[in-house]
Amino acid sequence: MDEHISDAIGRPDLIRLDDGLLCLRFETMKVVSALAAVRHLLDTGAVRRGDTLIDSSSGIYAYALALACHRYGLRCHIVGSTTVDHTLRTQLGILGAHLEQMPPSSSLQLDQNRRVARVREILREHPGYHWMRQYHDDIHYLGYEAVAERIHDRTDGDCLTLVGGVGSGASTGALTHYLRKRSADVRLVGVQPYGSVTFGSEHVADPEIIIAGIGSSIPFGNVRHDLYDVLHWLAFDAALAGSVDLLRRHAVFAGLSTGAAYLAARWERRAEPGRTVLFIAADTGHRYVDTVFARHGEAARIESLAPRPVDGGDELALPWSRMSWNGSPAPQGAVAGQSATATWRHGGRAPGLGAPRGTATGRSARDTGRHRQVSRKENHNEE
Ligand SMILES: Cc1ncc(COP(=O)(O)O)c(C=O)c1O
Repeated sequence: MDEHISDAIGRPDLIRLDDGLLCLRFETMKVVSALAAVRHLLDTGAVRRGDTLIDSSSGIYAYALALACHRYGLRCHIVGSTTVDHTLRTQLGILGAHLEQMPPSSSLQLDQNRRVARVREILREHPGYHWMRQYHDDIHYLGYEAVAERIHDRTDGDCLTLVGGVGSGASTGALTHYLRKRSADVRLVGVQPYGSVTFGSEHVADPEIIIAGIGSSIPFGNVRHDLYDVLHWLAFDAALAGSVDLLRRHAVFAGLSTGAAYLAARWERRAEPGRTVLFIAADTGHRYVDTVFARHGEAARIESLAPRPVDGGDELALPWSRMSWNGSPAPQGAVAGQSATATWRHGGRAPGLGAPRGTATGRSARDTGRHRQVSRKENHNEE
């Protein structure tokens, strides 16, 4: 019996779609991550019941954090982008979260920068608020350990290829980290949109709608580039074809990042038939009814799509490219600056991640206060 709805929402389904093709299907992916992160902050004394947690979000993290705050008796303040829709806005309000929504913006970068600036302004007015920094603080890895354990138990002995969209990097990075810790043979395939700095596609623009939740216009400290074996870049049109096919062929109603991951997963399975390929479905299709599913008549047959093999960022081309990444470090434009360093140094890495621990566990209230101050002063680039 679950004690709170967030447990049920956070628990993914593991579905066999085909021989060798599995889907890790979340209703809302980041719930499991936000719950564990907030629990960790409470356990270590970094925050107390009644405190306010703040972060910026384009959608599903806002909902995840609101649920975690509802469960643990904390207040929640979200600086949201225009992609927070009517349904989510209404729920957040009733859940007691305070949402400030930024005006429509011509670019993702402007939108991200504006939201960060607004969070900083709020923190100056309310120094006691705790900034969650989902893109940089690796306490967001913790919740995925239980998911990794479940995958490991259910796929015992399989050589796995995990495929997922990369936004903050927490889901793909954490699942791979925790699976590899259990000695599993796991290859990690990241999925990116065009126009993202994270793996160096910022110079190629996708003329269509942004694929919500993946890619970034600024560096994120939570992306561990060295974990990735292969990268796929997919344009909106290809992701739409993937989402429509996934619903038609397998009856899975999921979002655009899932459609992109599904195409990449099918490709990887064909390339290495001996491995089991597991792709992540981060959210349901409801948010995408008008922009994606209503356009199903335009969807290309996925059998007619194939990635262009590329050896470097300068060869990337629409609508689909694939490159061996082989654990390379972050490209120049994706190196998290001062901000991420400050996070690791003062927050420590999450338990089990292998890097220096700093003060992550058993931090005193005084240390925590210092941590907050330092973070705010040093995190100039941070979202
Ligand atoms: C729809 C969707 N897919 C994928 C992701 C990527 O997840 P992560 O931030 O763990 O990399 C996100 C993140 O917001 C998302 O909203």
